[in-house]
Amino acid sequence: MDVAIIGTGYVGLTTGVCLALLGHEVRCHDVDPGRMDKLARGRPPIYEPGMEQAMRAAARKRSLHFVSELADAVRGAKAVFLSVGTPSLPDGDIDLSYLEAAARQIAPLLAPFTTVVVKSTVTVGSCRRLEQIIRDVRGAGDFAVAANPEFLREGSAIDDFMHPDRIIIGSDDERATTTLKELYGPLVARTDAPVLVTSAENAEMVKHAANAFLAMKIGFINEVADLCERAGADVTTVAKGIGLDQRIGPAFLQAGPGFGGSCFPKDARAFAATGRRNGVPQSLVETLIEGNDRRKTALARRIAFKANLRKGAVVAVLGVAFKAATDDVRESPALAFIPALQDQGFVVRAFDPQAMPTAAKELPDVNWCSDAYEAATGADAVVILTDWKNFTELDLGRLSERMKGSTLFDFRNILQPEAVAACGMTYFGVGRAGLPGDKRQYVEKRAVAAAN
Ligand code: NAD
Ligand code: UDX
Repeated sequence: MDVAIIGTGYVGLTTGVCLALLGHEVRCHDVDPGRMDKLARGRPPIYEPGMEQAMRAAARKRSLHFVSELADAVRGAKAVFLSVGTPSLPDGDIDLSYLEAAARQIAPLLAPFTTVVVKSTVTVGSCRRLEQIIRDVRGAGDFAVAANPEFLREGSAIDDFMHPDRIIIGSDDERATTTLKELYGPLVARTDAPVLVTSAENAEMVKHAANAFLAMKIGFINEVADLCERAGADVTTVAKGIGLDQRIGPAFLQAGPGFGGSCFPKDARAFAATGRRNGVPQSLVETLIEGNDRRKTALARRIAFKANLRKGAVVAVLGVAFKAATDDVRESPALAFIPALQDQGFVVRAFDPQAMPTAAKELPDVNWCSDAYEAATGADAVVILTDWKNFTELDLGRLSERMKGSTLFDFRNILQPEAVAACGMTYFGVGRAGLPGDKRQYVEKRAVAAAN
């Protein structure tokens, strides 16, 4: 099928590449000329594992094209995907203006009959609004707007797209639903993924409610972690025990420094704003947002107490991406955590395998280092903030030798406390009560209580 993709960020690029690999003829367009230039040279503008190879495979099939003229992308397409950003407005609601602009731009270019597919995450009612914008330009009848939310995660985008838990198609126009079923046919044939055909409103709501729920699982386990830390339990084991209940499941129960990224914080805020706008406050989600924001700075204060740091102390932060396997720092815990360290007068050295160029624009006055050991050199404390696999394989002896102090904060619980202690360092995880017999714990628990 002839497909156009408007907006080639994490979602648009992944959708375009994967649809091309599934046998469709795909033309991708983006307003950012720098991005288009890289793509035309076969280089992904983002760090995403497997993306470059997938682009090469699609190029070999001659089914994936990057076109700088919007009209060339849209002309003749049976489905036009909109995958532009939907950032937060100051009140938490989404900014629909990028989608509205894209809808206005494609409206005169659509061939009859075209399905406009909204891949971006939108609040309930947005597809109807976009439909009205296109109708104002070309009248009714020869197009339809369908919601088709995306559930991929950064760092595993291609695999997630190719192995979806479900495909949601939100439209009451039979021509549009037939087009989308045809489009996803090869994927469904491979994976047996369930397809839910429903209204646009239901589809929009599914996406926001799903992300709010997943974020709530994380927010919940983070609070349980704090309780474990005080009460002498270990959240990693508690999460395992909870997750073995099939009604709960093990996913998204990893305690950490708070959820970040371009989706969970923004989507939770949008869901809460939708609740307020409709006079049905989503109080659980409102509380979740508040707690998650507070957590990122509270952890920065907590380390000062635990490691007994004074003004001028050096803290090495390992990982600034919001999660492993991405260069994305949007709403990363590091963006709140590092300034909170600097506010206390600490000097921050940092390293991330992929995200330093993007993070450097957001985080001034950080000493960026070429690896974890350089970051740890002369540090009073080391903090692991992102769950990069490389950090699980650190040479802890070498790290310890480079440090001035001896405290290691593992805010992703990715290291073995015993292995850290064996190298002469004091280990603090998230929600881990510490090593048996560690008498410092009692004193620290009181200090943490004071810090919070
Ligand atoms: P992104 O910021 O990485 O990419 C958006 C792209 O759209 C940019 O390259 C921008 O230049 C381009 N763009 C903006 N206006 C345009 C226009 N009029 N014409 C052509 N291009 C235009 O965004 P993203 O992370 O891919 O997210 C896109 C949407 O998908 C958002 O609604 C997001 O919530 C949703 N989503 C994101 C993820 C994710 O993991 N990032 C997952 C699921 C859903
Ligand atoms: C998320 C959703 O999972 C995906 O369905 C949606 O389409 C886009 O938003 P993404 O933001 O790429 O994907 O990553 P995800 O793996 O969901 O992690 C989001 C944040 O939660 C990260 O900061 C991550 O570190 C954190 N997280 C995740 C935890 O703290 N604990 C967990 O158990 C899982």
